[in-house]
Amino acid sequence: MKVLESNFMQGFMRMADDGWQQGWHERNGGNLTYRMKPEEVEAVREDLSFDGEWKDIGTTVPGMAGEFFAATGSGKYFRNVMTAPEDSCAICEIDDKGEKYRVCWGLVNGGRPTSEFPSHLMNHEVKKAASGGKHRVIYHAHPANTIALTFVLPLTDEAFTRELWEMATECPVVFPSGIGVVPWMVPGGRDIAVATSELMKQYDVAIWAHHGMFCSGEDFDLTFGLMHTVEKSAEILVKVYSMTGGTKRQTIQPDEFRHLAVDFGVTLPEKFLFEK
Ligand code: 13P
Ligand code: ZN
Repeated sequence: MKVLESNFMQGFMRMADDGWQQGWHERNGGNLTYRMKPEEVEAVREDLSFDGEWKDIGTTVPGMAGEFFAATGSGKYFRNVMTAPEDSCAICEIDDKGEKYRVCWGLVNGGRPTSEFPSHLMNHEVKKAASGGKHRVIYHAHPANTIALTFVLPLTDEAFTRELWEMATECPVVFPSGIGVVPWMVPGGRDIAVATSELMKQYDVAIWAHHGMFCSGEDFDLTFGLMHTVEKSAEILVKVYSMTGGTKRQTIQPDEFRHLAVDFGVTLPEKFLFEK
């Protein structure tokens, strides 16, 4: 089967285009990776090439040895993924030590997978282990309202989780474990990858101060929906702050979150249910 005919690649392209339509991907902003299932690799193997050069990942991810990833390319525009997927995207194989990758499909005009490949792969490694292999998608975008809040809220997991839970009743159900916050760091390197993957041990969402958001999920729907829910909640908070200068007349209280958790069968960490 041709890569472009496969369901996983169609889903990958649709998600990239959905993010573009949301306005989360100015220029080459953001990146997306998908850890392919073994049967998906087999189904498109005839369309892959295995004579590409092995290149350093820039970090070591032994838990990702032998895995195949669909990835957006570095410097490529999400705007172009639908119309020029073979130029904008790649399928990469990881070597048996988790130290190198090679391009097996795509990037037909040259280039390399996203500069955030180290962050993505370290997040995949953590989330694969934490989810018993279920998580397959890591998504990074630059949604404006979430970024705006990193100039206003304290850069703590507690502040972001609690404020964003309060903005929409569905939020604690959609991201019950909460949100991690990474202080401003240089993107693209190993340090920010390590900091993000540490947070991903307990969260499915990490916010990079003054930069953007990372989400992890089992499939394209869940991961896009997670980013969408967090950003919608951030938009509501930006509107509230814009109307009032930062005060709320009323909001959801800690005991109300506790009741919600019981009825919806989720566990909400007590560290986020502090009295204000
Ligand atoms: P890439 O074009 O290398 O994916 O980088 C975009 C980005 O958002 C970096 O954080
Ligand atoms: Zn970015």
